[in-house]
Amino acid sequence: MASDRMETERLGVHETERAAEILRAGGLVAFPTETVYGLGANAWDAAAIQKIFIAKDRPADNPLIVHLADCDQLETVGRAIPSIAYDLFERWAPGPLTLVIPKHVKLPSIVSAGLDSVAVRIPQHPVAHELLRRCGLPIAAPSANRSGRPSATNWQAVWDDLAGRIDAVLCGDATLHGLESTVVDLTGQTPVLLRAGAVTVEQLRESLPDLQLLHSETDPAKSPGMRHRHYQPTAMVRLCRSPDEIDLSLSPRRGDERIAYIGLMPWENSPKGAVCLQCRDLDEYGARLFDFFRTMDRQGITAIWCQEVAEEGIGRAIMDRLRRAAAPKGK
Ligand code: TXA
Ligand code: MG
Repeated sequence: MASDRMETERLGVHETERAAEILRAGGLVAFPTETVYGLGANAWDAAAIQKIFIAKDRPADNPLIVHLADCDQLETVGRAIPSIAYDLFERWAPGPLTLVIPKHVKLPSIVSAGLDSVAVRIPQHPVAHELLRRCGLPIAAPSANRSGRPSATNWQAVWDDLAGRIDAVLCGDATLHGLESTVVDLTGQTPVLLRAGAVTVEQLRESLPDLQLLHSETDPAKSPGMRHRHYQPTAMVRLCRSPDEIDLSLSPRRGDERIAYIGLMPWENSPKGAVCLQCRDLDEYGARLFDFFRTMDRQGITAIWCQEVAEEGIGRAIMDRLRRAAAPKGK
């Protein structure tokens, strides 16, 4: 791999014209959104999209989200768009909601990993919006992390994972939500939640009373991305209902201060040297979770305990990420 390394440009947030130029020329640019950083390429350029899969080591069966500047671009990448898609975007776009709709035949099939559908999102972040507006292209962008790793919520995380593998990073602030967008599939008889996110199930049900929750165990084909290993730091992730349950004997290196905790409750009586991040609410928990994982890895922590939360509101998305992060490694 070393001989294939490229020079990665570090761009300021005002350099969106340079970023657009790279995208138009078939290159890869990471950029901030309100959820996590994305790794973008021109959605019309199959060769550029192929580079995304290589840079991320992403499995070829995991489709990408196409980012648009506004609803006017919907018909260029989708077809037979249900009116509910426009209603939902009317309420939630720009914002952290992704809709899966029938794919336009002209959109390269590599974007959606051969599926007949395409996922679309209109991001709210001003830098993402400016980039989309300037290049005038739909931009296919997965989260800007190496596959399987926690998503990148700041440009430094993008740099750690992808420097030398992509053309440029637009270096903005840390992202607002810190968790990826809510994904809803509108291609079937009833709408299905494929991934929980910042737009909550309770909010969606105001417009979609029949929204179904996906059972990935019984229907893995619906959401290809859910089959793969996700969000995992090098440290072991363990879940607890409260910090009282933290069992130090489960630590891979018993007693040598290699333990961390993140949650809403304080960890009373934590052992000396343990790292503890108490979040004030669910929004802060979601926003800081992935960066906490990465920071703990850099500090050589070997076990990260995470407090479980109620599966309501944004808590549903947090629990989804925690369960996947805590799943056995390797799959
Ligand atoms: O917040 C986000 O959504 C971020 C930012 C950059 O926009 N992007 C992101 O992309 O999280 P990625 O690739 O990490 O996750 C995309 C998810 C995957 O679970 C994928 O399987 C699903 O969306 N997806 C994409 N296209 C799909 C399709 N046609 N049908 C079903 N699921 C699809
Ligand atoms: Mg991802």
